[in-house]
Formats: sequence, C-alpha cells, structure tokens
Amino acid sequence: MADIEALDRIESIGPEFFADPHSHYRRWRAEGPVRRVRYPDGIVRWVILDYAAGRAALNDPRLAKNYLATNGLLATKRGLPQPDPRDLVLFNNMLNLDQPDHTRLRKLIMRAFTPRRVAELTPRIEEIAADLLDALDGRHEADLLHDFAEPLPITVICELLGVPLADRANFQTWTKALVAVAGVEEDRESAARDMGAYLTGLVREKAAHPTADLLSALAVPADDGDTLTETEQVGMAFLLLVAGHDTTVNLIANGTLALLRNPEQARALRAEPELIPDAVEEFLRFDGPVNISTIRYTSEPVTIAGVDIPADEFVFIALIAANRDEDRYPNPDTLDIGRDTSGHIAFGHGIHFCVGAPLARIEARVAFSALLSRYPNLRLSPRDAALTWHPSTLIHSLQELPVLLD
Ligand code: HEM
Repeated sequence: MADIEALDRIESIGPEFFADPHSHYRRWRAEGPVRRVRYPDGIVRWVILDYAAGRAALNDPRLAKNYLATNGLLATKRGLPQPDPRDLVLFNNMLNLDQPDHTRLRKLIMRAFTPRRVAELTPRIEEIAADLLDALDGRHEADLLHDFAEPLPITVICELLGVPLADRANFQTWTKALVAVAGVEEDRESAARDMGAYLTGLVREKAAHPTADLLSALAVPADDGDTLTETEQVGMAFLLLVAGHDTTVNLIANGTLALLRNPEQARALRAEPELIPDAVEEFLRFDGPVNISTIRYTSEPVTIAGVDIPADEFVFIALIAANRDEDRYPNPDTLDIGRDTSGHIAFGHGIHFCVGAPLARIEARVAFSALLSRYPNLRLSPRDAALTWHPSTLIHSLQELPVLLD
C-alpha cells in the first residue's frame, strides 16, 4: 500500500539522478509502488516503480498514448498553444497510437519485419562486428561505446531500412533534439521539420525505385489490400530509425560495463559461451537501455497499486526499476547470468511490446560473442571510475566506455 505522506512529497530529478537511477528508484520504491516525480522540464509525472503494477500498466488501455492527445496535454501543462497536427507527422506512428489504429499499423509492419528477415541478417551482423573490431587492431585502449557499441546497430538499422549511413550525423542530431524531455522548443520544431522532409524524400524515392530493403517493402500494399499512406510510411521510418539504434547501442554498452565490473561472471561466460543468450537477458534485466516507458496519460481516473491517479495525468512505468523489484527477482542488484530472467519488461509488455526485440537480441549476442572471443583480457580502463551518463530520462546511456583490449 502506498505511504500517503510519501505520495504528497514530490521527488525531483536532478543531475545526481543520472549517475545512478537505480539507487533513486530503490529509495522511492521502499516508500511505495507509485511516486510523483518532477522531471527536468518542470512537469510532474506519476512513476510506477513496482514490477507487477508496472507490467499491468504497460497493457492498460486506460493509460493512453494517442500522440495528438499527449502533445495537446503536454502543451497545456507547459502553458503553450496547442500544437498544429501538421507539425506532429513523425509522431503519428504506432508507438504513439492506441487500438485500433495501432493494431492496423503493427500488422502492416510485422508483414515486412518477419523473423526470417531478421534471422537472415545474422551473417551480415557478424561481418559488421568483425570489421569494427578489425579496425581496433593494434590498439591498447578503445572507447567501446563509440568504436563498437554505437556503429554496430546504426549500420544494421540503416542497411535494413535502406537509409544511407552517410546521413547518420544529420538524423542523430535531429533525433537528439526530438527526444530530449527538457529540450528547447524551437530546436524540436526545426528538427521535426528537417527530419520530416528528409524521410519524406527517402520514402518517395523507395516508392519510385523499390529495392530489397524494409522501407521499400512498406511501400507495397499487403495481401488484404491495406497499405501505409505516405505520411504513415514517414512515421514508421522515423520510429524504426530512432527505436532501432539508441536502444541496442546501450544494451551492448551497459551489458559490457556490467560484465566487466563482475569479473567472476565474465569468467563464467567465457567458460561457457553458449550462455550468451541468457547473459543478454540478464543484461536487459540488470541495466536495460530504456529507463522509463514512453509517454502514457490517464484517459480516465485510474487506481494503480492502491493509488488514485486523476484523469489527464502523465504516467511513466520505470522499466529499469520494475526489473529490479526484489519481489520478482531475488537479489535484484546482483548481476547473475544464471538466474531466471523470464518476464523482464526491458522490451515493454502487451500491445506495444518491442517489434525489434528479435533483432536487438541477435545484435547483442553477436556483439558479446565477438568481444569475448577476440579479447581474452578485455577489462575496464582505470578511467572507468570517472564514467559519466547522459542526462536523459528516457535512455540509460553512458557518455563513453573506455576499456583496455590486451
Ligand atoms: C517498442 C525497448 C530495440 C523497434 C519498444 C518498447 C520498449 C522497447 C520498452 C515499448 C515502449 C512502451 O510501451 O512505452 C527496446 C530495447 C531495445 C529495442 C530495450 C534494444 C535493446 C529495438 C529495435 C527496433 C525497435 C532494434 C527496430 C528495428 C520498436 C518499435 C516499437 C518498440 C517499432 C513500437 C511497438 C509498438 O508500439 O507496437 N521497444 N527496443 N526496438 N520498439 Fe524497441
């Protein structure tokens, strides 16, 4: 049951939060499963910290995601004019829609993003990983984040979608401006315009000259005749591009950090590399890349874990807190590649469960297999003590990961 006094106290997310969100969540959860938290943009949101309540909330239709309503509510809470729907084209994608619109779009993407298409990518992913590590030959030290964890998923998602890798710097800048919770409004608007124009050009090019990539496949009608409009293709391209790179990067980086900080676990994994898939699940549970769920708001008053939340409130599910709930996972703060990780919610749960999970899993397995087999002495650089994390409330990501290779 919630501690009423604790609920009255609003926690704030300040710079110290980002260095160790787990310790904040642990402290807050000790006082109750749901908290009110002031985010860096000044808006107070309800945060669910508990596993059972969080998992249920992820699949609760009363916690709605509709992008028009959420952006309207956000503007109201910020005291800004209501947004023009034409400026929200990129957000018109299934992650930000409810049933039945969500169901229709998800069906159309699942047709193109098949397990077979993903499995077929494995040899190419292995090749990309090997090339990136070849480029480090002769080096004593590397920043594993920028030299390996980042270029691997970005190259894969660009090749899969058919987005030129050369445009990477542009779309990374736009994406940063768009996903920043406390970003500058003008930066967000110009990034949305520029990225919208860029993706519209790309989608038109694919429709005119289809190739073997996923964006071309999305331009073709499904067997039942349903098809994505051009605007929907742009929204989908945006979602896949953004969801497909920042996340997997940090699964590889956070997982490597966790492993290297637990040398006995690293030794166990080297001794039995067939445990890599289990280890990847434990990395997802222990320090997954997605800190909180994406935006949800109460479309009506809702009671969660005994706490009454009024209508029109933003609710986040703290995925990395739920995955360390001791009621679900004993000794949750211990990395244990042999534990039962079933049911972790690092990829979400319910109708919005991550479409890219099979791809992310393959990429991470390939990455860890390549790293462990290539570097028997891989360890953190002594500079590890000064590791810093990005001040992002959405993605739990390092600024760099210095390691010694030999
Ligand atoms: C949805 C996590 C990689 C595409 C989600 C959600 C989570 C998540 C938590 C649900 C968000 C919510 O309900 O608020 C992750 C993690 C990844 C990863 C931890 C890597 C380790 C990928 C990749 C792709 C991708 C590689 C695409 C290539 C998507 C899409 C959705 C989604 C399209 C929306 C699904 C829907 O609304 O039905 N992901 N993701 N993700 N993810 Fe991922």
